[in-house]
Amino acid sequence: WSFFRWAWRLTYLSAIGGFAWMCYGIYQNRTPADQEDPDPRKKTLVVLGTGWGSVSLLKKLDTENYNVVVISPRNYFLFTPLLPSCTTGTIEHRSIMEPIRNFLRHKKAAVRYYEAEATKIDYEKRVIYVNDESEVKGSTSATEVPFDLLVVGVGAENATFGIPGVREHGCFLKEVFDAQKIRKRIMDCVETATFKDQPLEEVRRLLHMVVVGGGPTGVEFAGELQDFFENDLRKWIPEIANNFHVTLVEALPSVLPMFSKQLVDYTEQTFKEETIDIRTKTMVKNVTETYIEAEHTDPSGNKVLERIPYGLLVWATGNAVRPVVKDLMDQLPAQKDSRRGLAVNEYLVVKGTDNVWAVGDCAVANYAPTAQVASQEGAFLARLFNQVAKTEQIEQELAVLSEEQGTAQKDARDEALSKIKDLQKRLRRTKAMGPFEYSHQGSLAYIGSEKAVADISWLTGNVASGGQLTYFFWRSAYLSMCFSTRNRILVCMDWLKTQVFGRDVSRE
Ligand code: FAD
Ligand code: NAI
Repeated sequence: WSFFRWAWRLTYLSAIGGFAWMCYGIYQNRTPADQEDPDPRKKTLVVLGTGWGSVSLLKKLDTENYNVVVISPRNYFLFTPLLPSCTTGTIEHRSIMEPIRNFLRHKKAAVRYYEAEATKIDYEKRVIYVNDESEVKGSTSATEVPFDLLVVGVGAENATFGIPGVREHGCFLKEVFDAQKIRKRIMDCVETATFKDQPLEEVRRLLHMVVVGGGPTGVEFAGELQDFFENDLRKWIPEIANNFHVTLVEALPSVLPMFSKQLVDYTEQTFKEETIDIRTKTMVKNVTETYIEAEHTDPSGNKVLERIPYGLLVWATGNAVRPVVKDLMDQLPAQKDSRRGLAVNEYLVVKGTDNVWAVGDCAVANYAPTAQVASQEGAFLARLFNQVAKTEQIEQELAVLSEEQGTAQKDARDEALSKIKDLQKRLRRTKAMGPFEYSHQGSLAYIGSEKAVADISWLTGNVASGGQLTYFFWRSAYLSMCFSTRNRILVCMDWLKTQVFGRDVSRE
């Protein structure tokens, strides 16, 4: 009994401690301290983008060492791993957004933020041309920002491979507005399919949800959509039950190429049970308003062209280089062989430059374009900039001390000498920063019906697992990775709300 009493007391105390810690976190977040003003005499460090790479850099950067300027058309950070859940309302999009203003307001020295798109980086002139692309424009909506140091973290755009009709008729899944558009379109298709006297063939077309691209984005979205149908749509709009159908189209022989074979098989088996159709070895060649044309390779190797009618088309075929990045690459002869983005060295310096770094999906550093890589790269650069600033400070102190030592009396000279030795030791330490090394923590993906797959790096090996337990692991891992306590609480509340009330089937 005494054991249980102690266990109970311990649990009780840790719950109170946890609650107090959370309240303190919220209080701190709500009451930011005064900030040092930006100092224009210091070097200007411009950061492009507010995604995984840039925000991870800004999080760890000692902003008092530089005059920091952030430029991005998006004034928030988006937690992309949970974006597929926003397409069906499992999670509300604002729960995974963190305003960049709140976050920057907590830095020690103030950071300037401009909501704008960089349209051109002029490397020779050390200037970035920026445009305000938002709806409301002032009398100035285009200007230039000079830089001493530049970090490019603008991510990538959606790849279409020049396939006709994709941009006009397909929905992408990269940004919040993409998820909102998909959510609206799903309900529009459903309501239009139930319109009075709708012909059966049209009903089937409207309720055919086609996802192109069997990478993690396509797979996660297909899983979320099937959940939406099984748990909510089928219940509230039973007349669509026989015709609602999700198809995943993939050009390669299997989906999720970055996962181990056993997890690929598990995913394909789960999709079969969920009645999601997987069409592998099928390459989409053309898109019209009502159907896609795809080339399928049959078991005997023949290529067959077929038309697949659709109501909703979600296009998730990976990344392409943004125009502003392409333009910078064209200015640098050292980038002439690079195709997928800015080639960088082991310190993430853009090849052919000495004051430009690149992080995340716009950089080519031989790693997959993932949030994991981008955030580790950002954190590395923050350490690098902090070290460089420390090194410069120590070098200045050394110069002053060496001068003083030359003219000082013996006792003061000895003291200065020992200080110099100490500083030299610190200098060696700060200068000894190694190159960027990526540490892969594993890959996770949600596959629907409360199941997930995970390839986790464990000690020296790899652990592959799939199923409902992995789903709980997926949830807790992503919850812990959310940007802030506020995001974590909102996401938990959304999950609870979905569990209790179901998803909202209204179209707004
Ligand atoms: P982004 O996060 O895309 O940020 C780019 C930033 O640059 C944005 O703020 C954008 O507004 C800004 N920008 C764009 N153009 C300009 C311009 N011209 N000038 C200035 N700023 C500009 N990875 C994982 O590791 N795990 C996952 O579970 C996972 N899930 C994902 C789910 C989805 C639906 C998607 C789409 C991606 C997912 N990823 C995941 C991949 C991950 O999101 C990306 O690899 C990551 O966002 C790359 O970070 P980034 O900083 O390079 O770019
Ligand atoms: P992807 O590049 O991983 O996959 C795209 C797929 O589309 C490929 O398998 C390709 O064969 C297929 N494809 C291309 N053109 C096609 C066509 N015309 N017809 C049919 N299929 C075609 O892209 P995705 O899923 O958008 O992911 C982008 C990056 O983000 C990846 O690096 C991925 O690892 C990462 N990501 C990671 C997630 C996770 O870890 N859970 C979730 C989402 C994205």
